[in-house]
Amino acid sequence: MDYIVEPSRLFGKISVYGAKNCALALLGASVLTHDEVILTNCPSIVDVNNMLSILKLMGKRVLVEGDKVSISGHLFTTCIPKDIAKLLRGSSLLLGSMVGRYGSVNLPLPGGCAIGSRPLDIHLEGLNKLGIVVEQSKSTVTCFGTPKGNVYTMRFPSVGATENMLCACCLAQGQSTLINCATEPEIVALEKMLVQMGAKIDGIGKSVVHIQGVEGLHGTQFQIIPDRIVAATYLSCALASGGSITVNCNPKDLFAFLQTIASSCKLSIYKNAVSLQSRSLQGVGQVQTGPYPQFATDMQPLILSLAALSSGSVSIIKEDVFENRLANQCNQLIKMGAEISLKDNIAVVMGGNLVGATVKALDLRGGAGLVVAALGAKGKTRISGIENINRGYVDLAQNLSNLGAKISCS
Ligand code: UD1
Repeated sequence: MDYIVEPSRLFGKISVYGAKNCALALLGASVLTHDEVILTNCPSIVDVNNMLSILKLMGKRVLVEGDKVSISGHLFTTCIPKDIAKLLRGSSLLLGSMVGRYGSVNLPLPGGCAIGSRPLDIHLEGLNKLGIVVEQSKSTVTCFGTPKGNVYTMRFPSVGATENMLCACCLAQGQSTLINCATEPEIVALEKMLVQMGAKIDGIGKSVVHIQGVEGLHGTQFQIIPDRIVAATYLSCALASGGSITVNCNPKDLFAFLQTIASSCKLSIYKNAVSLQSRSLQGVGQVQTGPYPQFATDMQPLILSLAALSSGSVSIIKEDVFENRLANQCNQLIKMGAEISLKDNIAVVMGGNLVGATVKALDLRGGAGLVVAALGAKGKTRISGIENINRGYVDLAQNLSNLGAKISCS
């Protein structure tokens, strides 16, 4: 199945659902207790459903009622099932909680992907610092032992490694200090849920976090935060198409993105929503991706498309997080007539008219970027690889159609 997209303006209102990356981290943490953990506002997307299947196959009781998910009970195995684990990088978010709670975990390695090689060395070095034995083969990693508190400095504020270390430290013996932690909104949500479960964490949302290990954690209920990447996707679609929309989301999580697009539109920022009225596209200036609060790498394909559509403007985009992400996406946009010169992960984009073409979504956010480009291009665009988009978006085509987009599946 492909998306067929024609240029069309977006108007109206949309609410974004819970964030994939938050849901995956919280589902990983649910293993830290056998009590019931209830997550509300949980998105029904392929990656989340796969994570729920993994939990079920390992023995957890999983109940889904609309956007409410309940997880309870014990694991009867510490081997993460290979076939499903390989489908999503998020399966690695079970490392810290499983070793913390059960003293053992066997993870089939998810492997490289279109955006970069994504090694697990920081996760494993951190667990090793807690006294965990790590054994790696070509296809799996096994960790075992009882975590003991320690001080660990991450060489890079990795989102996943921070999440795994937070989970492993909660039940460790003694105190741990994590230095150079990631501070993304999804990390803050995880820290808050862990505290609700009885964890002792000092420094929520900070890059240095102290965790006093406790004997056990208990159940809780927690609301998954709105998906900031999905919010940025709808705003970008509206801007590319010259439309006007209101997106219910958490604007403070979108600060760097909103600053980047501000010269091309009129923005009204409310407590729980952003309204955007398009003006003419002015390019995106100079953007460099990096750990939060810097510009999010997952939003980079969106603004690359906006830059390519900004006639008469020159934009410079530097991708500093994932090594293959920028080149892959530039190659797809070049098929649509984009003028981009790329060197050392820096793209110089001469904005102009894009024309419909046959392109491929090589990864989740790249696919969303192509939808943005297609809405503002002249003529019809066929986007293949939409299974990559479905991993992270609930009903993207239907929601865009409801806002007036000409998008269909064939
Ligand atoms: C998470 C998000 C992803 C987002 C990324 C960066 C989830 C499920 N996914 O991915 O959508 O794009 O954060 O905001 O939450 N690295 C290493 N060694 C490690 C770990 C990471 O070299 O052990 C490198 C990666 O290859 C990458 C960079 O660090 O170049 C950032 O990765 P990281 O922050 O860990 O991203 P993820 O947690 O995989």
